Amino acid sequence: MGKVLLAGATGYLGSFILEELLKQGLETRIIVRNEKKLPLSIKGNDQVKLLKAEVTQPASIENCCRDIDTVISTVGITRQKDGLTYMDVDFQANMNLLKEAMRSGVKKFIYVSILHGDELRRLRICDAKERFVDSLKESGLDYCIIRPGGYFSDMGEFYQMARKGKVFLFGNGEHRINPIHGADLAAICVNAIHGQEKEIPAGGPQTFTYNQIAQTALSVAEKGTGIIHIPGWISKWILGLLRTFTSSKTYGPIEFFLTVLSMDLVGPPYGTHTLKEYFEELKK
Ligand SMILES: NC(=O)c1ccc[n+]([C@@H]2O[C@H](COP(=O)([O-])OP(=O)(O)OC[C@H]3O[C@@H](n4cnc5c(N)ncnc54)[C@H](OP(=O)(O)O)[C@@H]3O)[C@@H](O)[C@H]2O)c1
Repeated sequence: MGKVLLAGATGYLGSFILEELLKQGLETRIIVRNEKKLPLSIKGNDQVKLLKAEVTQPASIENCCRDIDTVISTVGITRQKDGLTYMDVDFQANMNLLKEAMRSGVKKFIYVSILHGDELRRLRICDAKERFVDSLKESGLDYCIIRPGGYFSDMGEFYQMARKGKVFLFGNGEHRINPIHGADLAAICVNAIHGQEKEIPAGGPQTFTYNQIAQTALSVAEKGTGIIHIPGWISKWILGLLRTFTSSKTYGPIEFFLTVLSMDLVGPPYGTHTLKEYFEELKK
């Protein structure tokens, strides 16, 4: 079995990928900028080697891919407030990794983009991710692009609203999504090491409307039926204002969030974890 380099191990998906790599007995190197975010169980585990480095700074990751067969990257901006753009991180930091992978003769590069990312290039986040996908495809390396819709971690926001008794939804709440648990998606990412597929669109086992997600969250939180629909024109108006008065660092994440709420985001179903169980975990 080959050695794997994982970039993004301190994130939601990356932490499950690390767990899955260890479960499958794969020797793993992780690139981390803040090792305090790693679970304590990693310390002293001989299967994992830690490289403290900044993927945005090429010099700090020089030779990171030496002896590595597969690179898996989940690196990207979600909630980070480092003052960097999607082009700095989702594109350029992954390019820095790709250059190292090519230099060291890595066999395969597995990258996590977004479901329908190619059709959503008008959004800053998708543009940056898909530019990297283009470069990866041209690199000559074997590759696999994982394309998830929403993660359970994001659905947690609905539960946090439900706990306070009201869930706010933009539009009529009838668009559909099948979010996936990190552990289910991690298994797809790790199994891709030996798979033949070049692109894997993926969602979770159950498809919901946003109204159903809100109802599930409210029912687990035991808070009745407090769903408030905010008319779609208000979200367009908010976006217009943000685009005019803020930088892409501020409006980029909001633009992405409001866009996905106004479209269906349903991928082929994988996994076994249910959203209700996830909300019940959050309740504890
Ligand atoms: N969340 C979703 O619903 C969703 C849906 C589709 C696709 N995706 C994509 O899936 C990937 C993983 O998502 P996630 O929810 O696991 O994200 P996450 O929890 O924020 O993890 C992202 C990882 O990237 C690293 N990173 C971010 N900015 C960095 C920087 N400037 N320098 C170095 N490292 C940096 C983070 O390191 P730190 O821990 O040190 O910040 C973390 O390890 C992302 O690319 C995301 O765009 C997410």
